[in-house]
Amino acid sequence: MVAFWHFSEQLFTEMVAFWHFSEQLFTEAVLMTLIPFAWLRALSPWLRPLRALVARAWLREADVDQVLQWLHPAWRLNRVMALVCAREWVAEDMLALTLRGNGNARNWQPGQHVQLFVEQAGVRLSRSYSLIAVHADGRIELAIKRHAGGRLSNYLLDHLAVGEVLELGQASGTLHWPQQASSGVLLLAAGSGLTPLLGLLRQALAGGFNAPVTLLHYVRKRSQRAFSLELQGLLAQYPNLQVRWAISGEEAAGDELSGRFQASHLQGLTGSSLLLCGPHGFVASVREHWAGELQAETFSLPLAVSAASASATPLQLQFKRSQLQFSGDNLSSLLEQAEQHGLRPAHGCRQGICASCTCTLLSGVVRDVRSGALFNEPGQAIRICVSVPQGDVLVDL
Ligand code: FES
Repeated sequence: MVAFWHFSEQLFTEMVAFWHFSEQLFTEAVLMTLIPFAWLRALSPWLRPLRALVARAWLREADVDQVLQWLHPAWRLNRVMALVCAREWVAEDMLALTLRGNGNARNWQPGQHVQLFVEQAGVRLSRSYSLIAVHADGRIELAIKRHAGGRLSNYLLDHLAVGEVLELGQASGTLHWPQQASSGVLLLAAGSGLTPLLGLLRQALAGGFNAPVTLLHYVRKRSQRAFSLELQGLLAQYPNLQVRWAISGEEAAGDELSGRFQASHLQGLTGSSLLLCGPHGFVASVREHWAGELQAETFSLPLAVSAASASATPLQLQFKRSQLQFSGDNLSSLLEQAEQHGLRPAHGCRQGICASCTCTLLSGVVRDVRSGALFNEPGQAIRICVSVPQGDVLVDL
């Protein structure tokens, strides 16, 4: 049996070499036609034997991917590649994308988030985006908000074309529609925090949820009320739905609320379960005024330590596998400090969301800047993008 696998491995390696040679003989245009994109999803289950061989380290995933990629640029053994099918502006500064995956997405749900990767001039950029829809035919929807100076968001909004292929990470996140919500659900979103909540709202309404639902979206300008046409349509279709906007950068009119979140905005809103998504400051101030059931997701970090209230304390940082030790401080994250000293740890969102920077804490104490919680258990997994050392620290990196 072992001899057989050894022979298969050798054969496969030779096939890779042959295909690699052949690849140079054909143009990309010809290769694109070898397998239609629509087949990739249907063929994905047939790759299971190869996945098993890779899992046992009898084949290298990179070699398998090379062959699959030769057959179609979006085909991979495990990695999620997605074809851009449609683009639609849903606000002045937000673009909705419809993508079709290659069959490697595993149990994705609206309201979760995925990491999106784009390579530009040799630099791999990435950012986390929420899933607004996950269709049974493999299509998904994301929405990208423009960030001033944001390399990735500006590229996606201004240059990404229908027909291009992007890479996505696997979906993660636990935000979900409340199970016990007969007395109603309240959704509070600020800016692009609307996107996961809209995904859950669409799914709940389509699934027959008929208790009262109120969506309150905070924006700076009226032109940033994303998906307003769709929301008007949902309002007309579902009498249990109420949608309101709060405007902070223009004078509020009609039934709009004025300014950023304040406790009085909660008055008169029905719903005993609250779903909340927005920047850290927004989420923190709503939390202060809500005593009921709550799920929250935030997409920005609090300041690690207020510059006014803290001064840098020198400490020793040690990165075991990199055999690096240097003098650091208690003001910035382990990821930032490692990068400043030449390390290139794997990372994605830099916001504590995607888990791609997770490392093992071997000794010392770190503070998670999202919650303020301290971690000091040796062997504990920490996300180094949101972990600030509180003393000498040893990390398995
Ligand atoms: S980089 Fe995403 S959790 Fe740290």
